[in-house]
Amino acid sequence: MSRTSLTRFLVEEQQAGRITADLRQLIAIVARACTSISIAVGKGALGGVLGDAGTGNVQGEAQKKLDVISNDILLEANAWGGHLAACASEEMDHSTPMPAEYPHGDFLLLFDPLDGSSNIDVNVSVGTIFSVLRKPAGVDVPGDGDFLQPGTAQVAAGYTIYGPSTMLILTVGHGTHAFTLDRETGEFVLSQRGMRIPEDTREFAINMSNQRHWEPAMQAYVTDLLAGKTGPRGKDFNMRWIASMVADVHRILTRGGIFIYPWDKKDPSKPGKLRLMYEANPMGLLVEQAGGAATNGRERILEIEPTGLHQRVPVFLGSKNEVAEATRYHRNADQAE
Ligand code: AHG
Ligand code: MN
Ligand code: MN
Repeated sequence: MSRTSLTRFLVEEQQAGRITADLRQLIAIVARACTSISIAVGKGALGGVLGDAGTGNVQGEAQKKLDVISNDILLEANAWGGHLAACASEEMDHSTPMPAEYPHGDFLLLFDPLDGSSNIDVNVSVGTIFSVLRKPAGVDVPGDGDFLQPGTAQVAAGYTIYGPSTMLILTVGHGTHAFTLDRETGEFVLSQRGMRIPEDTREFAINMSNQRHWEPAMQAYVTDLLAGKTGPRGKDFNMRWIASMVADVHRILTRGGIFIYPWDKKDPSKPGKLRLMYEANPMGLLVEQAGGAATNGRERILEIEPTGLHQRVPVFLGSKNEVAEATRYHRNADQAE
């Protein structure tokens, strides 16, 4: 049986008029950078890549060596690609326009170079998340403000997961597709066309240790899940929490479920933990393109008007009917106020 490589898949998407040659090449460069990150991650203790970098990012989080290495790999791979006007990352305070001497293009790239940092040193799956936007018309050198476009404006989004196998999950707005890295040839090979998330689920993913900090609607929703068969939901639920968003979302794309990182009052200045521009938006598009849903508990993630590059949002995503149910608890509570 002939294999469909990522290269062939992208050429066919271009021939079908779904992507331009520029976008095809940009995605190929990002995929190649992710292959390099996969190699670095895979070396583990032998590569001297584990542990802290001894620095912090703009959000005051300690950076791991692999956060910095992955960020550098993505920046360098894209610098000479010629398809970008600028890029932005979890690990950089501000967006960086492509230097004048480099070839330029019309796209903006946002990424979380290494998601699930806390899992690096314990050999649990981590990943890279990315989102592609268009440079606004008439802008010459883009600044942070040019990135503040809603998730519906994304022309492509994806993640790679560095697990027992390395996979790339991609959407260009026409379904969500899975590719598996063939470690012998270094090529991503199409392994599932058109992923579909089951509409109903009996599995939820949440960090329960924050329960006492949640708002009442969230408390009520989870209480009802935990009540199981004899409670108002009339069925038993199972729980999973990997603490790498890529790994939790990957499970949901594969077998369904709901992933929640809600608002909590631990730090009232932070509306949630996850970042809108390079975590919630790309994951939201991938999930919607697979028939699932993504909200902030009240509204569709992809329609949120961004106000900051590193803005945080509550995230509810996965099986459509379960996300609708969780969202209903919040809306009902708002109406009762
Ligand atoms: P990052 O490593 O890019 O900062 O993201 C970590 C995120 C996400 O991957 C995960 O779902 C969540 O943080 C885990 O949070 P807890 O530590 O609260 O479980
Ligand atoms: Mn992350
Ligand atoms: Mn990260």
